Amino acid sequence: MARVVTLNVGEKSVEMPVTEGTEGELGFDITKLRAETGYVTYDPALGNTGACKSAITFIDGDKGYLRHRGIPIEQLAEKSDFIEVAYLLIFGKLPTADERKKFSQRLGANAALDPAFKKVFESFPHDAAPMAALSAMINTASCFDSTVADGDDEQFAEAAARLISKTRTIGAYIYRMTNKLPYVEPDPKLPYVANFLRMMFSTPGTQYEVHKEVTDALDLIFLLHADHEQNCSTSTVRMVGSSKANLYASCAAGVCALWGPLHGGANVEVLEMLDVIHKGGMTAEQYLEQVKEKKVLLYGFGHRVYKNFDPRAKILKESSDKVLAKIGVKDPLLDIARKLEALALKDSYFVDRKLYPNVDFYSGIIMKAIGIPVNMFTVLFAIGRMPGWIAQWKEQRDENVRIARPRQIYTGPTKSDYLPVEKRK
Ligand SMILES: CC(C)(COP(=O)(O)OP(=O)(O)OC[C@H]1O[C@@H](n2cnc3c(N)ncnc32)[C@H](O)[C@@H]1OP(=O)(O)O)[C@@H](O)C(=O)NCCC(=O)NCCS
Repeated sequence: MARVVTLNVGEKSVEMPVTEGTEGELGFDITKLRAETGYVTYDPALGNTGACKSAITFIDGDKGYLRHRGIPIEQLAEKSDFIEVAYLLIFGKLPTADERKKFSQRLGANAALDPAFKKVFESFPHDAAPMAALSAMINTASCFDSTVADGDDEQFAEAAARLISKTRTIGAYIYRMTNKLPYVEPDPKLPYVANFLRMMFSTPGTQYEVHKEVTDALDLIFLLHADHEQNCSTSTVRMVGSSKANLYASCAAGVCALWGPLHGGANVEVLEMLDVIHKGGMTAEQYLEQVKEKKVLLYGFGHRVYKNFDPRAKILKESSDKVLAKIGVKDPLLDIARKLEALALKDSYFVDRKLYPNVDFYSGIIMKAIGIPVNMFTVLFAIGRMPGWIAQWKEQRDENVRIARPRQIYTGPTKSDYLPVEKRK
């Protein structure tokens, strides 16, 4: 028998059917609450609100599980790559060899930007915020794609590949623009990440070589960021998409949400913290003393959802050890990071509070080591998250949901009359 929850509100009562997810998550359906009782729920930050049903990503923060379409992130990190995970998220299954080939061809064919983009880039100041440029350029991409408004599945698949591919080129060109460097055309024969690094760092007309450990590490960073269910930027993409705004517009809004320091900017904070320690001549021990006195935070530690080890951090830690050993960079900030990590992992302040390194701790370290400037970190996060945003936008479109329209509890003045200017104080 279907389960219901009965809520008594004064004289009235309302029966709310219980919805159960495949991993046992329970929610009661309050869609008739207001109509039948006059009440709404009050849940600022929406921490108790299931705003959608979704079959894409499952997280259990207490157990440290992250799965995409049922597959544990550990297996994906070991056996798959970013582009295959993008396909899995968006189309709901791992691609066959033919499907993968077609998807890769679509990515390759869509990598270049129309020459008009360069004029738009040239109109930005060189110190423009990279995330502002990224959001603007994703909307610019929609100006060059007339198919996105009401496309069928084929048009959607093309637009999804175009967006994933062009976001990478736009990301690389933002770096070139802010560093006043000439643009490097994409090479359609190169894999996704190698192409990105070449567009970022090569000199036009010269051969560009990159260690496999570096491309693997960046592929892994993108893969581990590909989706994380209903976080702030993903919820923004869904909210905007619910108005039937097109894929580009919805994802450009996701970029703006990710821009905030409480969301995509945490790995920047990690590097800034390391810089403060280094420039202030502090030891890792001295900084941790300040953390324990609650004067500062240990950025890159702790997580709102994971109260166990962040499974993505575990995977990235191994990768960071590998990549740092291979490229052998000598950087005092990386030495400080390793010291902080080693000390905190055996310090009772952190152990007792279940504060483990999160994905931002290691992604910041790896990106710094491979030469990505700190102001580009969040752009790279957005490149990685793009498949997740697209998958969530598509899932919502396929369900044909109603436009999102939250309610509020009004706390302003009750009815008051307009005062002419001479009577105002
Ligand atoms: C992510 C974060 C916001 C989660 O916050 P939260 O869920 O409210 O944290 P908790 O409630 O689990 O905190 C429990 C305790 O640990 C402390 N704590 C949490 N994160 C801490 C950190 N990074 N450094 C020092 N102390 C921390 C809290 O002050 C609290 O201490 P108390 O019990 O003495 O009051 C928080 O851990 C944080 O600010 N981390 C640093 C920023 C960061 O890396 N963000 C990226 C997340 S992916």
